[in-house]
Amino acid sequence: MNVDQIREDIPLSREVIYLDNASTSLSPQPVIDAMVEYETHYRANVGRGVHRLSQIAGQLYWDAHETVNRFIGGECGTPVFVRNCTEAINMVARGLTFRPGDEIITTVTDHHSNLLPWYALREKGVTVNVISPARNPMAGITADDISSAITKNTRLVAISHASNVLGSVEPVKDIAEIAHDHDALCLVDGAQSVPHFKTDVRDIGCDYLCFSGHKMLGPTGTGVLWMAEDSLEPLLLGGGMIDDVTTDGYLVASGYSKYEAGTPNIAGAFGLRAAVKYLNAIGMGAIEAHEDVLTRKLLSGLSGIEGVTIIGPPEGEKRIGVVSFIVEGLHPHEVAHILDDQYSIIVRSGHHCCMPLMQYLNLPDGTVRASLYLYNTEEEIQTLVEGVREIVEGV
Ligand SMILES: Cc1ncc(COP(=O)(O)O)c(C=O)c1O
Repeated sequence: MNVDQIREDIPLSREVIYLDNASTSLSPQPVIDAMVEYETHYRANVGRGVHRLSQIAGQLYWDAHETVNRFIGGECGTPVFVRNCTEAINMVARGLTFRPGDEIITTVTDHHSNLLPWYALREKGVTVNVISPARNPMAGITADDISSAITKNTRLVAISHASNVLGSVEPVKDIAEIAHDHDALCLVDGAQSVPHFKTDVRDIGCDYLCFSGHKMLGPTGTGVLWMAEDSLEPLLLGGGMIDDVTTDGYLVASGYSKYEAGTPNIAGAFGLRAAVKYLNAIGMGAIEAHEDVLTRKLLSGLSGIEGVTIIGPPEGEKRIGVVSFIVEGLHPHEVAHILDDQYSIIVRSGHHCCMPLMQYLNLPDGTVRASLYLYNTEEEIQTLVEGVREIVEGV
């Protein structure tokens, strides 16, 4: 893996030390080129015209879905392009039919986007059970946690594959199996897994996989809802999603079109296609290995600083390159601000859209979070560790 070449493709990666990848990633030039090429050479709507521009755009738009679908081993299901992971989860929450008494299990470690869409169903008499990790509050959810909570009323288990605060990786394959053993569905929030390690829906066995294109080198405004079966009512109705319409009614199209009413984010789809090709050319195994080296270096560097506490799973557990920490005597926002101001290091601070987790961990101010990606280097990690050390010494 040639990190220098990757950094050549991403000018911003050379201007700052970008460690806010869990929030959104940077896009390499081929992703930007793919969008510009569409806007410049074959800008047209998709699935609507017989003219040449629409044919080219339509073919590529279809291929973008195929490319993304292969990336997650999803040929057995349908990949729907959406704006972001949040939209994907909402589409499932609103597209399934729930009855009073139905139960949904989610977890205190989950992102607001995997909580609020389920909370909204409480109005319909659905019980939402937000479970906590019994074993170790900072280590994420285990299959036993799910087994203990699941009942005959459970309709769906919604769980993130990897935590955007703790960096823990959850046993989603076991969880999907437990859900299915109880005739429940399993939704996996892959926002923090798909960009960072090989994520295969066949292996996991989930019913839905939701993720963000913009966290995996793709453009903002892109995300994916993959579904094993065409099981949802579409959220939007209108152009582009029908086979037939009369004055009496309509017949919906099959495949992804059914869920993509209206003109989609076509340039975004081409950018996402290019992002997946870019990741494929490097290889997810190589990316995971690279991030693992950086993560170990970061963890060992930070844990050697007195006054710094890492908020995450114990050493030796599978984790991603999302490293949360707190600095004694300093608000996380202050740390993030100093890192930006004095070291050009971009990290996120605060609750990371995980307020219930912060309440559970008794961290009202949240954490500082450094999150890595394929273009980060060991030197950058060293600069971060030294920066944090100097900040601590200055307190
Ligand atoms: C685990 C997790 N789920 C969902 C989301 C929401 O993603 P998006 O902003 O693309 O909707 C995020 C974003 O940080 C996340 O980390």
